[in-house]
Amino acid sequence: MSNRFAVILAAGKGTRMKSDLYKVLHPVCGKPMVEHVVDQLNVLKLDQLITIVGHGAEKVQEQLGDQTAYVVQKEQLGTGHAVQMAESYLKDKQGTTVVVCGDTPLLTSETMQELMDHHENEEAKVTVLTTIIDQPTGYGRVIRNSEGDVSKIVEDKDASQDEKAVKEINTGTYCFDNQLLFDALQKVSNNNSQGEYYLPDVLEIAKASGEKVTAYSTSNPDETIGINDRVALSKAERMMKERINESHMRNGATIIDPSNTYIGPDVTIGSDVVIEPGTKITGHTAIGNYTVIGPNTEIENSSIGAESTIKQSVVSDSKIGNKVQVGPFAHIRPASELHDEVKVGNFVEIKKTTMDQGSKASHLSYLGDAEIGKEVNVGCGSITVNYDGKSKHKTIIGDGAFIGCNSNLVAPVTVSSGAYVAAGSTITKNVPEKALSIARARQENKEGYVERLNKR
Ligand code: UD1
Ligand code: MG
Repeated sequence: MSNRFAVILAAGKGTRMKSDLYKVLHPVCGKPMVEHVVDQLNVLKLDQLITIVGHGAEKVQEQLGDQTAYVVQKEQLGTGHAVQMAESYLKDKQGTTVVVCGDTPLLTSETMQELMDHHENEEAKVTVLTTIIDQPTGYGRVIRNSEGDVSKIVEDKDASQDEKAVKEINTGTYCFDNQLLFDALQKVSNNNSQGEYYLPDVLEIAKASGEKVTAYSTSNPDETIGINDRVALSKAERMMKERINESHMRNGATIIDPSNTYIGPDVTIGSDVVIEPGTKITGHTAIGNYTVIGPNTEIENSSIGAESTIKQSVVSDSKIGNKVQVGPFAHIRPASELHDEVKVGNFVEIKKTTMDQGSKASHLSYLGDAEIGKEVNVGCGSITVNYDGKSKHKTIIGDGAFIGCNSNLVAPVTVSSGAYVAAGSTITKNVPEKALSIARARQENKEGYVERLNKR
């Protein structure tokens, strides 16, 4: 197999997005569009990826990291000029170069593989990925000669009335013989309505010098949508969402209302999971078998075990075990760990806290910076007082401890195993094992007080 490279075009500002955020960084299902492109290219295991950056170069590099090499295109003089920037990397290499735009996030590795196979089987020097769509406005049109062979691509802004009527479009994805590509780019001019060096002009140039130019037309036009404005962005979002939801349903998850369920591309879901309406699951989240999520729940970068239930709640950057019940209306904040069979109920907020097996905080609590043992019962309204106005302090609660309702545990403090804290206590000193700690004013009843008051 010869060498295979890819050039990703991502230098444009994306004027039509009307945004301060560079176009290729706009997220689709929570992930920047250019990263979707890189993810799909990574599946193909090419020899090298080169990303052309310009507007927002640092931000794009920060996002993609070392998955690709970068070349800066200082001035955006067109897609042909952009590819030329990769010359120093590729010019002297034998092989095939795939060029993709950073604004086509729905393109799959399968389609790119089919394009490369077609290019190699046909022994072509240039192959363009095309598709047929009903509303081709804005795209470059594929012009074929009387034999049906591709002769050139005409941009929408340069097209005649007849050419505008063509429904076969350039998807912006191509395979080139590497050496031909850089030779032909030398000959591309900017003599067109936009005054830009157009990459698609390479087709006509190659054809004129007798080289084989072909098109591979995909029957999945949805994959090829190029995002130039926010209307297209919302279409891409919907299509990506449908694609992701369908793949989870085919893998054995029930999604009650797919149109109202938002799952990111890096989420994994076990079998017989049920996802109720209004749920958003993003980042690197994993959900175990038989778990029920939602309704109206948000989970980000977290792992949830099997047979758990998360209802009307928000969970981020946390780890939740098996048979855990969360919600309704709980907030599990970053760096929390709920081990198996834990219960976190109504209006409970957990932050940077570990709850070991079988422990419960069923109602109205705040537990922050705490280490809670097994089978602990945190009574309704109890809180850890973890912040003294300057720093955060830790609360440790031993196995089997019982924290009565409405207690304040003023950290740093330890309630040892098996200890009881009486309801309404404000605990400022450690409680020894199996002790009962009462830290509140003693009740005094003044008999007959009200009658005396009324006589005054
Ligand atoms: C381009 C194609 C068009 C095709 C469409 C598919 C050209 C001239 N036209 O049009 O035939 O139908 O894609 O979506 O290629 N970029 C750079 N540097 C530049 C200019 C652009 O890196 O100097 C990048 C952009 O960031 C973008 C990609 O190239 O990711 C495509 O540019 P864009 O302006 O979106 O081209 P289209 O008008 O969509
Ligand atoms: Mg575009």
